[in-house]
Amino acid sequence: MSGEESISYTESIHRAKNIYRFPLIPVRGIPLMSHIANNWDEICAFQPHPSDLLIATYPKAGTTWTQEIVDLLLHNGDADVCRRAPTVQRVPFLEIFAPQPIPSGLELLSKMDPPRVIKTHLPIQLVPKGFWENKCKTIYVARNAKDNMVSYFHFDRMNQTQPEPGPWDGYIHKFMKGELGWGSWYDHVKGYWKERQTRNILYLFYEDMKENPRREVERVMRHLDLLLPDDVISRIVELTSFQVMKENPMANYTFIPKPIFDFSISPFMRKGVVGDWSNHFTAEQSKMFDEDYERKMEGWNIPFRTQI
Ligand code: A3P
Repeated sequence: MSGEESISYTESIHRAKNIYRFPLIPVRGIPLMSHIANNWDEICAFQPHPSDLLIATYPKAGTTWTQEIVDLLLHNGDADVCRRAPTVQRVPFLEIFAPQPIPSGLELLSKMDPPRVIKTHLPIQLVPKGFWENKCKTIYVARNAKDNMVSYFHFDRMNQTQPEPGPWDGYIHKFMKGELGWGSWYDHVKGYWKERQTRNILYLFYEDMKENPRREVERVMRHLDLLLPDDVISRIVELTSFQVMKENPMANYTFIPKPIFDFSISPFMRKGVVGDWSNHFTAEQSKMFDEDYERKMEGWNIPFRTQI
C-alpha cells in the first residue's frame, strides 16, 4: 500500500459523514453495530485465501499489539515497512462497514493480494466459514475479563461510533450480560478455546505477552512458520513495546480525527498494563463480578490471570 493511498485513506476519514454512536442489532443472537449487522450477508460470504492469517480477539484484548507483532515478523522487523500505513490499513478489519467514504474491511481486502493479515472481533461461530474450510492460520488473543472490560469502557467513552457506555456500574452489568458490541466476553473466549486444537488457532494471553513479550513473539513466529535471528526478534520486541507503539502514529490511532476518536476523553494507547481493574472496581463490585465469573467459567480451566 503506497503512502499516497494511506494519505487518501486518512483524508477520507476526515471527510466522513454520518458519524454517530451506532446502535447494536443482534446477528444470530450477537449484538453487532448496525453498520455491521446491515451488511451481514456480504461479510459472512467473504472468501479468504488459504494463505491469509486471521487475528481474532474480543475488543480491547490486545489486537493492535498483536497486529504490530505479526506485521513486523512478516517484514523481518523492518520498522520503516511497518510505518507504511496505519494499522487499520495494513491489517483490514474484516467486518467493519463504516459509512462512506471510509472504506470497509471488505473493500480494503478486495484491493490486497493474499497472503493478507485480517482482523476480526467476531465470535468463532460468526467467522466466515471459508477461514476454517481453507484451514487459515488463526491467532486468538484473550485478556482477563476485568482488565478487558475496563479498557472497553474507556474505549466506548472515547470512540464516538461505539454505543454509549453509560456509567461504570451499569457497564459492569452490561458486560456480564453480554450486551456490549460483539457480545459475551465469556462465550467469546470459550468459543475459540474449545476449537484451538482442531482449527489451528494459536491462543495467546495478554498477560503472558506483558510478562514475557519475547517468549510470546517467538510463539507467534513459530506459528507463522518463520525463523528469525535473535537480533531481529529483539528489535520486534522493542518496536512493539507499549511506549514505542504509543509514540508511533501508524500504530497509535492518532490519525483518526476527533469526531470519531476523542483523545481528550481517553487515548487509544491508554495504560497497557495488567491489573488496572483494581483502580475501577469497588470491593463490592469485584466480589459480585467474581461470583458471577465463577459460575460462567466453571469447568473451563482457561488460565486467565488478573495480576502478574
Ligand atoms: P488499555 O486500555 O488497558 O491501556 P485493542 O488493540 O484490542 O483495541 O486493545 C487495546 C488495549 O491494548 C489498550 O489497553 C492498549 O493500551 C493495549 N495495548 C496496545 N498496544 C500495547 C502494547 N504494545 N503493550 C501493552 N498493551 C498494549
